[in-house]
Amino acid sequence: MRLQEKVALVTGGGRGIGAATARRLAQEGAAVAIADIDQEVADAAAAGIRQDGGRAIGVGCDVSRKDQVEAMVARTVSEFSRLDILVTCAGLIRDNLAHKMSEEDWDLVIDTHLKGSFLCAQAAQAVMVKQRSGRIVLISSTSALGNRGQANYSAAKMGIQGLARTLALELGRYEITVNVVAPGFIATRMTEATAERMGITFEQMRDGFAATNPIARVGEPEDVAGAIAFFASDDASYVTGQTLYVRGAP
Ligand SMILES: NC(=O)c1ccc[n+]([C@@H]2O[C@H](COP(=O)([O-])OP(=O)(O)OC[C@H]3O[C@@H](n4cnc5c(N)ncnc54)[C@H](O)[C@@H]3O)[C@@H](O)[C@H]2O)c1
Repeated sequence: MRLQEKVALVTGGGRGIGAATARRLAQEGAAVAIADIDQEVADAAAAGIRQDGGRAIGVGCDVSRKDQVEAMVARTVSEFSRLDILVTCAGLIRDNLAHKMSEEDWDLVIDTHLKGSFLCAQAAQAVMVKQRSGRIVLISSTSALGNRGQANYSAAKMGIQGLARTLALELGRYEITVNVVAPGFIATRMTEATAERMGITFEQMRDGFAATNPIARVGEPEDVAGAIAFFASDDASYVTGQTLYVRGAP
């Protein structure tokens, strides 16, 4: 129960890594606002946490829209009175080789991941600076290091690492830490969609990955949630600007 009395906001919290993170933060005692562009899944995830005895609300929000992001943070603070932890899990992919990638797919992925992370961090820090404390955890990816067919996603995910290092420099004096978790292959709707596009079953993709990864399995959303919970807790109070790869490999 490291997060008792804390208030967390998790974007993309309706599914996958975000949903597992919201559950984990709630299990550690935090009240959680679950934001998603799909309000229905956000509400369902929040209802699940309440059923388990936790405190949670669902909020509809497109993280690429400044007005919606500001409303999301305002709703969180009006419901739970403060904001201690921001985790930005909202995301999508639009893969294609660079020479075939449309301008729309470039913009959508950059706007959702990179601009979205910036807007959420900007709105959250306005509350956290006044509190003189806060934890911001942004989500990158091993694709930041380069991945065929993901020029847009890779650029956004490496951009997020630079964003975090810069925010860490600017916000440290307010006891606000900013760190990044960069997952590898995690079993979610996102990786299921990748398998579909590659014309293979999810099981084939899983097995192929497990055969070559040092820890011989794919990651589960809970594997990532554990790393995020560390950065969100006081155990990480002197750790900032770091990127932690959660990939079952060095
Ligand atoms: N699954 C993986 O292998 C993997 C690996 C590395 C990084 N990631 C990253 O982890 C994060 C979570 O991914 P996931 O695998 O859980 O995917 P997911 O598809 O299961 O969940 C993503 C959620 O984000 C929401 N979302 C999409 N666009 C949004 C927007 N504009 N505003 C608000 N919400 C929006 C979706 O509705 C969905 O509920 C993403 O940033 C993703 O890039 C995932």
